[in-house]
Amino acid sequence: MTPLTTATAPPPQEAVGPLVRGLAVLRELAAADGRRSVGDLVRATGLARSTVDRVVSTLVRTGYLRVEGRDAVLAPRLMELGNAYLAASRFPDLLGPLADALADGLDESVSIAVPDGDGVRFVHQATRRRAMSLTFRIGDQLPAERGAPGALFAGDWDDAGWERWRRRRAADPHDTGFPALPRGHGDAAASFAERVAAAGAHGWSTDDQLIEPGLIAVAVPVRDGAGRPVCAVSVVSHTSRHSAGSLREAVLPRLRETVAAMEDALSRPAGAPAPSPVGASPATWTRASKQELGPEFVESLARGLTVLTAFGEGRGELSLTAVAEATGLARATARRSLITLEHLGYVASAERLFRLTPHVLELGCAHLSRLTLPEIAQPHLIELVESVHDSASMAVLSGEDIQYVARVPTVRIMSVNITLGTRFPAYATAMGRVLLAGLPERERAAHLGRTDFTRLTRYTVTDAPHLARVLDDVAADGHALVSEELEEGLRSIAVPVRDRGGRVVAAINVSMHASRRSVEESRSELLPPLLDAAARIGDDLRVAGRYARVPAG
Ligand code: PHB
Repeated sequence: MTPLTTATAPPPQEAVGPLVRGLAVLRELAAADGRRSVGDLVRATGLARSTVDRVVSTLVRTGYLRVEGRDAVLAPRLMELGNAYLAASRFPDLLGPLADALADGLDESVSIAVPDGDGVRFVHQATRRRAMSLTFRIGDQLPAERGAPGALFAGDWDDAGWERWRRRRAADPHDTGFPALPRGHGDAAASFAERVAAAGAHGWSTDDQLIEPGLIAVAVPVRDGAGRPVCAVSVVSHTSRHSAGSLREAVLPRLRETVAAMEDALSRPAGAPAPSPVGASPATWTRASKQELGPEFVESLARGLTVLTAFGEGRGELSLTAVAEATGLARATARRSLITLEHLGYVASAERLFRLTPHVLELGCAHLSRLTLPEIAQPHLIELVESVHDSASMAVLSGEDIQYVARVPTVRIMSVNITLGTRFPAYATAMGRVLLAGLPERERAAHLGRTDFTRLTRYTVTDAPHLARVLDDVAADGHALVSEELEEGLRSIAVPVRDRGGRVVAAINVSMHASRRSVEESRSELLPPLLDAAARIGDDLRVAGRYARVPAG
């Protein structure tokens, strides 16, 4: 069982102090929904200001944090820690598609949750929410007594498990340690023992508005070869469509079929251990010298965190030797990091093999899995504008138009007044051409067939064959430059942003008055920083979108 977290027991002698302190800062930031001033972090962690400063600058260097003014902000790259657990667990990869199919078949939301101490944590969501306000995300945690899955897991608790639950209830009767939970609804704890017994007897558990009024669910455990529940699948609905009883009757047969298929999938061998993920895509700091990293960089913190990324797909259980090899750390260093991480509940060990626990998801996963593409893009667009001193934007395709989803203006007054949500015809804009050039052949042709060309200026391309040739060039060049086709005097240069599958999901641009630079200068000065920003947005998107769906707007 996962040890009770954090700071209740004193750290073992071999513990790596900087790693303990760095994780304390990350937890505080995660609890504050991803953003906190450095001053507040000092107060919340009880650490010295100079310590927090060093932790923050180290985590900025590893790409896990950003600093905005006085605030430290969690960065999408941090999700690689939670992703390491999710990949190692195989739950989203193996069971996610089966959960999605069940959600499609039932037309109800389906989620997968795992036990985490005396709580449960969501690892997959197939959401079909209609009348409901509340949606849990990957990494969100519930107390075991609230919701359907916890009663299934608690059937496995020993006396120490129940004691831990009672202590937590006494210490936090209002569930303040569970930010995902709506406040002040009912008393789920009173009936918990009874529900645990019923769940054990029936093999299913229901949630009749234990979390919030209207929200109901039925859950069934997924068991490993030894019969232990390793996760639970919930079908979630609303009292406007079902009672808890009618939901159970309606969905239990198909839910059970799905769970049987999931148990089957989990029982198949994981295959040969995958090659080291750390070596495959090393963080940039691992290539820098001590001198480049500077005196503020706390190497033992950064190295300790790379231990978490040694785990992953096909690398669910690792020996000390395997961790040392994957991270390039000396065995003694890897061992001390593992001991520290185990003490804090992020790693568990049995028979000399280490594995990650779902507690790793506590490190910002829930907050970061809520980010939208514009939110991911914004800091990179700000950096771009700071370097080129012209406005930058992001847009997505919406019917025949592009729609602005992010924009960082300069103070310079432009004749066009562009705000979020602004739409322009795709054919006459650089971002539109990048988006159209990224479409599969047939969709592109269909789009051109539907397009109603209007001569917006004397330069506008106004026929489909001409635009088709332009789009071929855009696809080959990897960027589009459009001068005065949308509006006289306006020039824009745009590049694509691609998701994990290489699909163009958005475009970013820099726009300016045509007199600011020649066409050639526009290309030579703006294209490199623009491509750089798109690459960094794409990198963040690939980490954030590995298991969470990142909305485009
Ligand atoms: C959910 O996935 O949103 C969910 C799961 C179980 C519950 C309630 C909600 O009991």
